[in-house]
Amino acid sequence: MHADILLLPGDGIGPEVTAAAADVLRAVAARHGHRFEFHTRPIGGAAIDACGEPLPASTLDAARAADAILLGAVGGPKWSDPGARVRPEQGLLALRQALGLYANLRPVQPHPATLGAAPVKPHLLQGVDLVVVRELTGGIYFGDKQRDAQSASDLCRYSVAEIERVVRFAARLARTRRGRLTSVDKANVLETSRLWREVATRVVAAEFPDVQLEHQLVDSMAMHLIARPRSFDVIVTENMFGDILTDEASLLAGSLGLLPSASLGEPGPGLYEPIHGSAPDIAGRGIANPYAAILSAALLLRHSLRLEAEAQAVEQAVAQALEAGRFTADLAPAGRAAIPTRAATDAVIAALETPRPAVAMRD
Ligand code: IPM
Ligand code: MG
Repeated sequence: MHADILLLPGDGIGPEVTAAAADVLRAVAARHGHRFEFHTRPIGGAAIDACGEPLPASTLDAARAADAILLGAVGGPKWSDPGARVRPEQGLLALRQALGLYANLRPVQPHPATLGAAPVKPHLLQGVDLVVVRELTGGIYFGDKQRDAQSASDLCRYSVAEIERVVRFAARLARTRRGRLTSVDKANVLETSRLWREVATRVVAAEFPDVQLEHQLVDSMAMHLIARPRSFDVIVTENMFGDILTDEASLLAGSLGLLPSASLGEPGPGLYEPIHGSAPDIAGRGIANPYAAILSAALLLRHSLRLEAEAQAVEQAVAQALEAGRFTADLAPAGRAAIPTRAATDAVIAALETPRPAVAMRD
């Protein structure tokens, strides 16, 4: 097949990990007879530097025209002055909203080889296989913001329609998995959460009687996620709770550098990005973990290009690299040498060339 893929490397380690993921996609194209065409545009701090704004019109136009978008990371101390007129993160938020990407999938499936890197006891992690569906275009991220000398406010608002569509998305996903859906809210305090709970209950009862729904308050969910992660299948939650819980969930996988994400929604291109940030402290040194970006490319193959076999091949190649102990600094046990980004990428590409049956990682 032919596909136009837009690369938005962004800031910090974004360019390094995006280049790694693009190399893996090139290897997939060569091996499976596809033609992937890559275009690159600035976003975030890089775009502020180049054009004065975090999401230039030419970047948004290119995003709309692409079949799929692969993003690195945005942000960094250079653009973090509290008085700054524009911030890199606004570019990413505006892109998600402009493309209607309301459902953000964040699969968490710890690999046996990296259990030792997790700060959670290994016996709790065996068999963990969950997906967080984070609502991505509503809530406090996008509500009115006010600021005066003495106070500040951020409005959190959700409409019934916004909740319905993301709950449906998550329930459909649960149906293809173990049929369990956990909806996370703060219904004992927040009005938006009470609406969320009502709508989730109604939608699942009316349209997904085969899906088993439970509700959790976000504070106790933060605890259960570590104490009994194996008991979760699909978790659906609002924008900010999903942001926080998925950084926490990355501890189950051993490193923030292992978790990919897919942002999907209205017909149009999907956006794929690692959940990690721009890691300015290690940027430019060639030591960043590229696996989350590479696994994001696998999600791109699966969800936007409908190339399931190729997606699984990439996931298995990453699994093979991890089994072979090809660990970047964030994963390497103390006292063991870590490999740079390039070597990790090459290990994945080599594994793609010489695949062997392995347990598939899926979302
Ligand atoms: C994420 C990030 C972003 C978010 C930032 C960079 C705006 O933390 O994708 O999880 O908060 O959504
Ligand atoms: Mg985050």
